[in-house]
Amino acid sequence: MVIAIQLILLTCYTLLNHLILGNITTTQSPVAKGRQVFNNNNNNELGFVPIEHICGLPLHRRIVGGREAEPRAFPWIAALGTQGEFLPFCGGTLISNQYVVSAAHCFRNRRPDQLVVRLGAHDFSVLPVERDARDFQISWVKMHPRWQGVDTGDYDIALIKLTPNVVFSRSVMPICLPPWRTRPTYAGELATVAGWGRTRFNGYQSERLMQVEVQVWNNSACNQALAPKGYKVTPGMMCAGDPKGGKDSCNGDSGGPLMIQESTDERWLLVGVVSWGVGCAQPNTPGVYTRVNEYVEWIRNTIQIPK
Ligand SMILES: *[C@@H]1O[C@H](CO)[C@@H](O)[C@H](O)[C@H]1NC(C)=O
Ligand SMILES: *[C@@H]1O[C@H](CO)[C@@H](O)[C@H](O)[C@H]1NC(C)=O
Repeated sequence: MVIAIQLILLTCYTLLNHLILGNITTTQSPVAKGRQVFNNNNNNELGFVPIEHICGLPLHRRIVGGREAEPRAFPWIAALGTQGEFLPFCGGTLISNQYVVSAAHCFRNRRPDQLVVRLGAHDFSVLPVERDARDFQISWVKMHPRWQGVDTGDYDIALIKLTPNVVFSRSVMPICLPPWRTRPTYAGELATVAGWGRTRFNGYQSERLMQVEVQVWNNSACNQALAPKGYKVTPGMMCAGDPKGGKDSCNGDSGGPLMIQESTDERWLLVGVVSWGVGCAQPNTPGVYTRVNEYVEWIRNTIQIPK
C-alpha cells in the first residue's frame, strides 16, 4: 500500500476566527474538562503558565479567506526536515514545550540525528530562515510500538522529543490533545488540515503553509469508499475529505495535524495525524488520519516515562 501518504494539501478554505487571547495568568481557571493537556509548567515568554491554560489558542488574531494559511494561525505546526534539504518531508504538531506528535511512517529509513524540527515557520522561500522560526534537534523519536510499517497503516503515530526545550511565543504555541475518555468520533464535523505538502498528486510541494477544510467521515462510510480500492480503515484511523474530491492532504503533509476547533471555548484540538490516502483529493476517496484520541494514553505514558 502506498501509504505514503499521500496526504494532503489542501486547497481551499475559509476560516473565520476571531480569537484573541489577552492576558494569560496562572490564576485563570483550568479549562475544558476532558481535554488532555500536559501540565508541565515551564517558563516562557508568557510567564509561568500551565499548558492547559494556553494550548490550542493562537495569540494572533486572524481572518482567513484564501488558500495560504495566515502566518501564526497554527503556531503548533512543526516542519520536519533533513539537514541540508530545503522543504520539509513531513509535518508534526507541538503538544508541549518538549514534544511533537507526528506519523511513524515519517521516520522510515531516516535517522533522527540527521533531522531538524522547525517551529514558527510559514514560508520556506524566506532564506536563510524566517525571523520567528527556530530549529530544534531531536533527542529521541518513539514510533508506536505496534506500528508495523506501511502495510496496514495502523498505529501510524510517533512522538518526537525536542532539544532544547521550546520557548513559547506568538509564533510557537502548543495545541490541545483531544478528550480520550469520551473519544468523540467527530463524524460530520469540519476539520482543518495544514502542511507544506504537495498541492496535487505528483505535483510540487508548497513553500508556504497551506490549509484546507475537510469533513470528517464516519469509519463505515469510509470503509465503503475505500474497500473497493483494496484498503481498510481501522478504529485507530479516521477519514476526512470532500466527497466531491478536490480537497485533501497529499505527500509531504504526512505527520501534520488534522484539527478541530471546539465551539465551546474556541480551542484547537489535534484530532488526527496525516497518515495515508489513495492518491490525493480524488472524488469519494477521503484522506486517512491516525485517530489521536485512541493514542492519548500512549502519548501520556511515553512522555512521562521517556527512555
Ligand atoms: C495581566 O494582568 C495582570 C493582573 O491583572 C496585570 O498586572 C498585567 O499588567 C496584565 N498584563 C497585560 C499584558 O495586560
Ligand atoms: C455514516 O455516514 C454516512 C454518510 O454520511 C451515513 O449515511 C451513515 O448513516 C453514517 N453511518 C453511521 C453509523 O453513522
